[in-house]
Amino acid sequence: MCGIMGYVGPRQAAPLLLDGLQRLEYRGYDSAGVAVANGPISVRKAEGKIDRLAALLQKEMIEGSVGIGHTRWATHGAPSDRNAHPHADSSGKFVVVHNGIIENFAQLRSELGSKGHEFTSDTDTEILAHLIARRYDGDLVSAVRSAVASAEGAYALAAISEHEPDKIVAVRRISPLVVGLGDGETFLASDILAVLHHTRDFLIVEDDEMVVVTEDGATIESISGSEIDRPVMHVDWDIEQAEKSGFDHFMLKEIHEQPSVISETIAGRLDNHNHVRLEGVNLDSTFADELNQICITACGTAYHAGLVGREIFSRLLRIPTSVEYAHEMRYAEPLIASGSLTLAISQSGETADTLAAARLARSQGSRLLALTNVVGSTLSREADDVLYTRAGPEMSVASTKAYMAMLIGQYLLALHIGSAKGVLEEELVERIMRGLHALPADIETIIENDEEIVTAARSIASAEDLYFIGRGLDYAVAMEGSLKLKEISYLHSEAMPAGELKHGTLALITEGTPVIVVITQQSVYEKTISAIQEVKARGGRVIAVAYQDDPIIYELADTVLGIPRSDDLFGPVAAVVPLQLLAYHVARLRGHDIDQPRNLAKSVTVE
Ligand code: G6P
Repeated sequence: MCGIMGYVGPRQAAPLLLDGLQRLEYRGYDSAGVAVANGPISVRKAEGKIDRLAALLQKEMIEGSVGIGHTRWATHGAPSDRNAHPHADSSGKFVVVHNGIIENFAQLRSELGSKGHEFTSDTDTEILAHLIARRYDGDLVSAVRSAVASAEGAYALAAISEHEPDKIVAVRRISPLVVGLGDGETFLASDILAVLHHTRDFLIVEDDEMVVVTEDGATIESISGSEIDRPVMHVDWDIEQAEKSGFDHFMLKEIHEQPSVISETIAGRLDNHNHVRLEGVNLDSTFADELNQICITACGTAYHAGLVGREIFSRLLRIPTSVEYAHEMRYAEPLIASGSLTLAISQSGETADTLAAARLARSQGSRLLALTNVVGSTLSREADDVLYTRAGPEMSVASTKAYMAMLIGQYLLALHIGSAKGVLEEELVERIMRGLHALPADIETIIENDEEIVTAARSIASAEDLYFIGRGLDYAVAMEGSLKLKEISYLHSEAMPAGELKHGTLALITEGTPVIVVITQQSVYEKTISAIQEVKARGGRVIAVAYQDDPIIYELADTVLGIPRSDDLFGPVAAVVPLQLLAYHVARLRGHDIDQPRNLAKSVTVE
C-alpha cells in the first residue's frame, strides 16, 4: 500500500523523507520518490527499492527544508520511474503525492486533455497536480480544496508549491494521514510509524479534512473550510506495535482491514445505474455470447476463493464452471473448448503452478483472465484481461483480506459477464449490488463482537481433530476455515460437504469431537440441519456459523458464532470472518508464530 511522508522545519528534508519512507517499507511498494522545495521544486524518483532512490540522492542531494515523499504500490499504471510519485503539473510548480484511487480519473484526464494539458505518466495522481495548478489563484489551500471537490474516491494527498514554499497542504478522504508535532518542525505521514522516532505527539487527520503543515505546527479544517480544534494524541506504543497499527499481529490487522478492502475493491467499479466498469477486463458481448465454459485455476486460499466463484458463476450466469488445482491442471489434459474462459486467481500473481496452468490453458486457445492483487505481476502481464483486487500488501502468510478481495472480484466479474451476456435480470443485479454494499458493515459487526469466537477458540484449542462441514457456498467457506486453522494452529482438520460426512468420516465423530458447521444457505438448510443431528447423535460438539436470528440453530448447536442476516448469496462471504478469527485465537492460545507459521511461505514461486 502506498506511503506518504512530509517534512517542514529547519533541517534538510530529503534525508528525513528517505528515512521515513524506509520505515514504511514493510507495507510493500514498487517505487519511491521525494520532492523538495527550495525556490524551485526538485523531484527524484525511481522504480524499485528505496536504495535506488537513496543512490540517486547520494549522487545529487536536493537541498531544502520542505518536502514530500512517497512509496507507491501501483494501482493506475505499471510500476516504473515515470509512474512513481511525486507528480508535477506541466510547469513543475505544483507537486503532489497521493495514496488511494481517484475514481473519476478517466473523465478528469480527458477533460484536462481537451483543455491542452499533457501528461507524462499513466497515474491518476498526476491529474491532481494539474487540477491544483489550474485552480491556483494565489492561495494553495483554496486550489487544493477546489481540486479535491472534483476528485471522487478514497484517497489522501499532499501538495507543495513553489509559490508557497513554507508549507504542505494535505487532504484525507478515507486513506490515513497523521501529523507529527516536533520542536520547531512538523511531519506528515500516512502512518505514525514513519515519524515515531521523531515525536510521540500526533494530530490525527480525519476523513474529509484538510491540514496545512508548517514548521510551527498544523491547522486542521474541514474540506468545506470550518476550523477544527483537534486534541494532540500522545502515542506510547513501541515501534513493533506501531508497524501493525497497534494490533498484535499482521493477521489480526488484515482481518480488521477487510471492510475497507471490500469498499476499495468495489470503488469506482459500480455506478448508480447498476453498471459495472472493470478497467482491464474487456469481455464484450461477442465473447460473452460464445462463452460456454469457465475454468478457474488456483492454489491454496486462492483455490478456495475459486470454489466460491464456481458457485457464483454457475448459479448467476448458468455457465458450467469448474475449479482446478493449478498443480493438478498443469499435468492433466484439460479439455478446453473454444469459447472458454480460464480465470487464474493468485494474490501474488507469481505462484509457479498457477502460472503454468494459466499458460497451458492459453496455449490451448482459452482466453485468460487474471484475478490478482499485484499490479505488474507475471500473471497480470501474461493474461488477456486483468482484474486487480485492491487488498494492499498482505504480510501474514495466512491469507485473509486477499481472499476476501478475491471473492468480491468474482462477484464483480459475474456482473460484468452477466451484463455482457445479457443474462442478469435487473432485479438480480440490484440484489447483488445491495449485497456487496452491505458487506463492509456486516463484517465490521462480526469483528467488533468476537467474545463468542474467543470462547469457542478456548474450547477447541486442545482438540486432536476437527471437522468443517457446509453445503454449496457454505462448503466453499468451510474449506477455507479449515485451511486457516491448519495453517496457524497446526491442529488437524478436514473440511467436506455436509452430505459427505455420513459416507465415512462419521466413523471418527465420537464424544466431544468438534464439528464446525457453516449454515447460511436456506435452499439446503434442512439438509445441513440433518447433518448436525447426525453429529449430535454421536456425541459430537457442534460449533455453528449461522445467522444470528436463527433460533433453531441456537437450540441445536453447542455454540453459535452469529453473523448478521444477509442475502444467501453473500452470507458465506461474511461467514468466513468468524472462521478466520477462530483460527487466529486458537493459534494465539497455543502460542504459535501467527504471521509466519512453520514450513509455509507467502508466495510459492517454485514448483
Ligand atoms: C502459498 C500461501 C497461501 C496462498 C497460496 C497461493 O501456499 O501460503 O496463502 O494461498 O500460496 O498463493 P497466490 O499468491 O497464488 O494466491
